[in-house]
Amino acid sequence: MEKLVITGGTPLKGEVTINGAKNAAVAILPAALLINGITTIENLPNISDVKLLCEIIEELGAKITWVGKNTITIDARNITSTRAPLELTRKFRASYYLIGALLGRCGDVQVGMPGGCKLGARPIDQHIKGFEALGAHVEVGQGNITATCKELVGTNIYMDIVSVGATINVMLASVLAKGTTIIDNPAKEPHIVDVANFLNTMGADVRGAGTDVIKINGVEKLEGNITYSVVPDQIEAGTFMLAAVASRGDLVIKNCTTKHLECISAKLLEIGAHVEELDGDTIHVWCDKRPSKANIKTLPYPGFPTDLQPQMGVVLATAEGTSIINESIWESRFQYTDELNKMGAKITAQGKTAIFEGVDSLYGAPVCATDLRAGAALIIAGICAEGTTEVYNLEHIDRGYENIEEKFRSIGANIKRVKEEDPNKNLVEMSE
Ligand code: EPU
Repeated sequence: MEKLVITGGTPLKGEVTINGAKNAAVAILPAALLINGITTIENLPNISDVKLLCEIIEELGAKITWVGKNTITIDARNITSTRAPLELTRKFRASYYLIGALLGRCGDVQVGMPGGCKLGARPIDQHIKGFEALGAHVEVGQGNITATCKELVGTNIYMDIVSVGATINVMLASVLAKGTTIIDNPAKEPHIVDVANFLNTMGADVRGAGTDVIKINGVEKLEGNITYSVVPDQIEAGTFMLAAVASRGDLVIKNCTTKHLECISAKLLEIGAHVEELDGDTIHVWCDKRPSKANIKTLPYPGFPTDLQPQMGVVLATAEGTSIINESIWESRFQYTDELNKMGAKITAQGKTAIFEGVDSLYGAPVCATDLRAGAALIIAGICAEGTTEVYNLEHIDRGYENIEEKFRSIGANIKRVKEEDPNKNLVEMSE
């Protein structure tokens, strides 16, 4: 078992470079199966969710070659199976994008019921509604989803709930459908726009991604041999912005899209931190005093992202005064608050609301990452805390952040990954 050991108390300082977006990458990889050709994908985050997806895609007959740490080619000329290995697809959420992609290309697909972080109920009714509206027959049972169709025909689809996954899945299924598909009330996150850009680079005709209506004119075929670079990760960039403020540090964050960070910058300015846009892809964030309280409500883009809520929670845990966070997307995204309370925070969470009574400082303790973003939050808390923090359950964190401890170490954090070899806790160092 691995854990991170962090000795806190040092403000973060320096430059950090952001990787490609996890939530775009995990949709673009399945989207590459729509094409009877070879795709090169650059700026791909080297994280466990991406590696798992590559493994599944290879099981379906496509050939994946890593041509660099963050670049792969996918040769999807030969798809030999539309039945994805159930035990692998059940391990994470984004496996549901194989449904849209394989339905679009082959008219047949089976995946295990998608897993992912335990953030509360994670229904997929809007995905199914979209596939059925396009003419697919969908069956859910025994932990699997099977979808088949003779052909898909474009139609108008109104999303009852703003859903990232359902918006992308319907886009994937409809690019090769007959006629025009209109998605009303779609999600507008940067990764939605990025997937649409990727599809359009392959020759699809997707218009309006990032607005209130997406229109997809079905095309007969997509082009082969394209190269595409994944958009920078809004959430990773936001994680470092919040880490700079929580640690009273000073960070220059490179390779991010500053436009996507406006919702975070606005809140940081409100609580007394400093944010300076250096150019369209570099942002400078620093904080020289205790920030003031704030009220936050998570919302779909361009609102404050739920995927930065736990990291913002760490900032508010030591802010001046009492703050309130209202989580409007996931029912169980306050599990990290119990862990922060073990480090001296004073947070009361009930249902979708948490009240943060700001304390002067946190102290180190052993804590567990309950999900991916909770894990990032606990690392930041450990960096800010007095004394030593041990963060367990690193598999959650490795799903979504590439080289997280190396990145934090390069900006001054005292953090190392160690392996506990036996129950007597003899520690063997893994990295420093
Ligand atoms: N929802 C439904 N029915 C559906 C789909 C969603 O009721 O068919 C509800 C959900 O229960 C939730 C809300 O709609 O309350 C939004 O869910 P959404 O579908 O947007 O979430 P998702 O596609 O499952 C993606 C990200 C999450 C991120 C959310 C919200 C991926 C692989 N995951 O999940 O990322 O929190 O959008 O932005 O893209 C993370 O990266 O840590 C993470 C959890």
